[in-house]
Amino acid sequence: MLPAVLVVAAGLAAVSTAAASALPVVPPSLHSLYARQDVQSPINASLPNVTIFATGGTIASLSDTNTETVVETVGLGVQELVAAVPEILNYSNIQGYQVSNVPSSTLNQTVLLKLAPLINEELAKDNVTGVVVTHGSDTLEETSFFLSLVVNSTKPVVVVGAMRPSTALSADGPLNLVQAVSLASSPSAVGRGVMITLNDRIGNAFYTSKYNANALDTFHSTEAGQLGFFINQLPYFYYEPATPIGRRTFDISGTDVLPQIDIIVSHQDMDAKLFNSTVQNGARGVVVAGTGAGGVTRPGIAVAKAVYEATGVPIVASHRTPDGFVPLDPDNAFFIPSGFLNPWKARILLQLAVNAGYGHDQIVDLFGLGQPKS
Ligand SMILES: *[C@@H]1O[C@H](CO)[C@@H](O)[C@H](O)[C@H]1NC(C)=O
Ligand SMILES: *[C@@H]1O[C@H](CO)[C@@H](O)[C@H](O)[C@H]1NC(C)=O
Ligand SMILES: *[C@@H]1O[C@H](CO)[C@@H](O)[C@H](O)[C@H]1NC(C)=O
Ligand SMILES: *[C@@H]1O[C@H](CO)[C@@H](O)[C@H](O)[C@H]1NC(C)=O
Ligand SMILES: *[C@@H]1O[C@H](CO)[C@@H](O)[C@H](O)[C@H]1NC(C)=O
Ligand SMILES: *[C@@H]1O[C@H](CO)[C@@H](O)[C@H](O)[C@H]1NC(C)=O
Ligand SMILES: *[C@@H]1O[C@H](CO)[C@@H](O)[C@H](O)[C@H]1NC(C)=O
Repeated sequence: MLPAVLVVAAGLAAVSTAAASALPVVPPSLHSLYARQDVQSPINASLPNVTIFATGGTIASLSDTNTETVVETVGLGVQELVAAVPEILNYSNIQGYQVSNVPSSTLNQTVLLKLAPLINEELAKDNVTGVVVTHGSDTLEETSFFLSLVVNSTKPVVVVGAMRPSTALSADGPLNLVQAVSLASSPSAVGRGVMITLNDRIGNAFYTSKYNANALDTFHSTEAGQLGFFINQLPYFYYEPATPIGRRTFDISGTDVLPQIDIIVSHQDMDAKLFNSTVQNGARGVVVAGTGAGGVTRPGIAVAKAVYEATGVPIVASHRTPDGFVPLDPDNAFFIPSGFLNPWKARILLQLAVNAGYGHDQIVDLFGLGQPKS
């Protein structure tokens, strides 16, 4: 039986570039095809203009049968994504670019450093209303957080994925994409920073995380809450636009490679020598996923302190619990507390800070997000 998505795609010619007439066969290891203007819809001058950057992920993946929702191969290009839901052309004109076509578990900084300047360039154009990034869900929160720190426009940037492959019964990707385009073209989305949308919800990229490896309802910010919800595919917001406390914009123009920052997990009997080996391996910063509010074993603290004192490499203490806040530990003040940020978000912020040449005190200040100033 043909997957529903592709039946729809084959029957419509709204998108001028080749719509899917057969299952595209793209090996999952084929990367980095980035080509400009893979999709250009016919222009309706009375509509907004949204640019889609496709990176791969489950939203672009295919399984052998419509009941398989886990084993999948990334393969659909931006043309097929758009062709599957011509309804998005009711909301906006679309331009689509393929930036990569990989599962997000393997997406890396090469893609991020390509994507971010393209988004800034696109949003700087008067006739571009907003941007959508299609992305695998696994590391979607990392790319979204990164973009929230490097995009320099108030226009909407919406990062969208799916939990079910395009071939699944009740695939969630097509409706998620419609909602993402609707959001990116909505005047009410301006000034809200980078947003994540899946499963009818709109989240702030700064605080939203993936909480469940399989469920559709997986992206949440349990403490900071959701920004809004879709009703009939239109975004309804709970609040006026707000900026996360402490969020800054980093200029990454001229950056070819981001500094290596590694994450070490603290746990019973952790190997304290990991602090030494990670720095010997070239890490220019370390994040510890600490127990509780940034806790590390006693031997771990001693080794981390010796490594910090010998090398000056900044060590950020975060939490391995999904939520929480790490405050300063006055007895071990060499640990930079991550505040609300989880380890992988802390890694990205530290990466941008080290890249910008921040010293220890500036990094402490940067991570003091939301902490009362004395
Ligand atoms: C262009 O968009 C407007 C506003 O949605 C709509 O009323 C009109 O029918 C569209 N024109 C065409 C040719 O699709
Ligand atoms: C969308 O782009 C077209 C073509 O450049 C332009 O005529 C139109 O005004 C744009 N729409 C908006 C809302 O900027
Ligand atoms: C939206 O687009 C679809 C497919 O292009 C079209 O059939 C439908 O009439 C449109 N709906 C509205 C409300 O404009
Ligand atoms: C990222 O992945 C691409 C494609 O797999 C590869 O060519 C590139 O070297 C990788 N970048 C880094 C920094 O590892
Ligand atoms: C945003 O970044 C782009 C690309 O780096 C740059 O050309 C543009 O001038 C920047 N705009 C602002 C408002 O900083
Ligand atoms: C926006 O305007 C530029 C320059 O006029 C044009 O090249 C581009 O195609 C337009 N984009 C859209 C989406 O219409
Ligand atoms: C780790 O590095 C520190 C600083 O160079 C050193 O004092 C300590 O002996 C090292 N520990 C181990 C287990 O290698």
